[in-house]
Amino acid sequence: MSDPNKEFDGIRQADNPLPEWWKWVFLGCIIFSGIYAVYFHGFSNWGTSEYYAAQIQEYEKEFPNRNVAVESTDGSNPFRGNQDAISIGQKTFQTYCVACHGPTGEGLVGPNLMDKEWLHGNTDLELYATVMKGISVERTKSGRGPMPAHENSLGSEKVYQVLAWLASRNPELKSSK
Ligand code: HEC
Repeated sequence: MSDPNKEFDGIRQADNPLPEWWKWVFLGCIIFSGIYAVYFHGFSNWGTSEYYAAQIQEYEKEFPNRNVAVESTDGSNPFRGNQDAISIGQKTFQTYCVACHGPTGEGLVGPNLMDKEWLHGNTDLELYATVMKGISVERTKSGRGPMPAHENSLGSEKVYQVLAWLASRNPELKSSK
């Protein structure tokens, strides 16, 4: 009687040798994987940390100083009177605020920012909070609807620049109480 493992349930195991070409491909894969592993870990720069670093570099080139945190010790705007900050702030205002506050800040959907009336306070500290956090529906006072937060889209540096521009145009915006 032959080996019972060679036939089971009518299925016969032929035990033929693997074709030559298949063995060479198999051996080739083993040799290739060894060379590849040594190259990948030892010589290439295809690792995820290099890839990540390259992406960060690209991002920072595209958005320089995007979310640089500017610290203020007493709540007053560190960019007050800084000419460079004021002109950058004006440009930022033209991009992010005009749709609601008008090209000169005199109001459209949002209220006039150039007059003496302040619904949410008139100090750097209060305006910083207003622009960074926005005004939620429950906190609106003018009946004109809410204002979006800008802490993620602009960040502290750009917000202080916009406020420096506002302060240069409206003396009613005080550095502190
Ligand atoms: C989608 C429209 C919209 C955008 C964009 C917007 N605002 Fe406003 N903003 C409003 C509205 C509406 C109010 C008034 C909310 C209320 O009724 O209390 C307001 C209120 C304010 C106030 C408070 C005014 C006060 O009298 O106390 C300041 C300061 C202000 N916005 C600054 C900005 C700045 C700076 C930007 C750009 C970075 C900006 N806003 C972008 C709609 C907007």
